[in-house]
Amino acid sequence: MNNYIIAIDGPSGSGKSTIANELSKKLEISYLNTGSMYRALTLYFLENNIKKDENINKSLLEKINIDIKNNKVYLNNKNVSLEIRDSFVTENVSWVSSIMAVREYLVKLQRKIASNKSIILDGRDIGTVVFPNAKYKFYLDASPEIRARRRFEQKEINKSIDEIKDDIIKRDYIDSHREISPLKKADDAYVIDSSNLSIEEVVSKIISYMDKED
Ligand code: C5P
Repeated sequence: MNNYIIAIDGPSGSGKSTIANELSKKLEISYLNTGSMYRALTLYFLENNIKKDENINKSLLEKINIDIKNNKVYLNNKNVSLEIRDSFVTENVSWVSSIMAVREYLVKLQRKIASNKSIILDGRDIGTVVFPNAKYKFYLDASPEIRARRRFEQKEINKSIDEIKDDIIKRDYIDSHREISPLKKADDAYVIDSSNLSIEEVVSKIISYMDKED
């Protein structure tokens, strides 16, 4: 079979990375979590005190090395997989990801990583901007209550369910209302609402959809 791309988009906490991980094991293909790249850049900006109103341009970005190996994220050769999940990063990632130069830099990198292989990418703009011709496109959604509960149960965030829900709604709003590459369903994406589905059920829905398309 020729190389193919699976694009999975959707709002925060909709289960994209869990599903993409499972799917990549099942299909034995690569997986790239593009949100982790935006998070790594955000961490760099925070550590280096780079603010929203600064001139964030190509030459500044090209000094920053982001690498993903075995699902671990490296920022200038340092493993930052845990730090990028920090709530300070989460609270700042939306403004960083709305900067044109940032998106150009990361989309280019994502396309390079995805070249010459079959791969699953998850994010907000994969089926609309990064790979509009992806062979398979999915848009994963779930109610804000369910998404907040899932995050809460992961025990990675030291906040109440209501606080997590408020953060999720705020981030979704910024991500879907920004000017450049807003979060939105691609016209030809297959929508799955995972609110009442298990991980296995979502994965099998995806696989049966792919089988039908082939
Ligand atoms: O997927 P995750 O929640 O880790 O993504 C963090 C943030 O990165 C999102 O809220 C969004 O602002 C940004 N992002 C993006 N485009 C992508 C992936 C993530 O703008 N393709």
